[in-house]
Amino acid sequence: MKLFLDTGDLSEVRRAAEWGVLDGVTTNPTLIAKSGKGFKETVLAICEAVPGGAISAEVVATDYDLMLKEALEIASWHEQIVVKVPLIEPGVRLVSTLADQGIRTNVTLVFTVTQALMAAKAGATYISNFVGRVDDLATDGMAAVQETVDMVDTYGFESEVLVASVRHPLHVTQAVAAGAHVATMPLKVMEMMFNHPLTDIGLRRFLDDWNAAGLTIG
Ligand code: E4P
Repeated sequence: MKLFLDTGDLSEVRRAAEWGVLDGVTTNPTLIAKSGKGFKETVLAICEAVPGGAISAEVVATDYDLMLKEALEIASWHEQIVVKVPLIEPGVRLVSTLADQGIRTNVTLVFTVTQALMAAKAGATYISNFVGRVDDLATDGMAAVQETVDMVDTYGFESEVLVASVRHPLHVTQAVAAGAHVATMPLKVMEMMFNHPLTDIGLRRFLDDWNAAGLTIG
């Protein structure tokens, strides 16, 4: 399973990249706006911070011709870039066009398996199924993830199911159980994935016993 960081903050990307477990980064217009820096400069710096990683950068136009122009511009910046496209009608058309040209896409704002099916048929590289925003409406956001994973498996689509809008480690646990290919999350969620109180207690006991015995390595 791939782990992506969901951020436009370069210092967060550098921190997670140090762990050696980061497969990519997803950005969106909100995250880029929050970064306080330019779009291209931020995305290129993220590409450099995660060598070989898949870095999603989103178009902002909503009509096909402009979306295509933006997508080609964004894709030309760096080979690691994946063009992020919203699941709207011209977006699906755009994904088909880009797939024909070998340009990778991440279809975003997907909430249902029917939307996911349109993205998969268009040739999306990643299908970003949002979970937290659905949970916020007191509805099970993970249900559509499971349906989408099953749909991709049943029909043999090449798209990877990317669990987005992740709010806590339980979402990651559920994404694993659903067989999702990728989860993207804020740094604070990725940091929480290290934690267990029994790990802390166990380590403290090991070190106390070792030190009490006066042992050394080598
Ligand atoms: C995904 O690519 C999105 O950027 C992101 O996961 C949205 O998360 P949010 O619902 O917490 O804003």
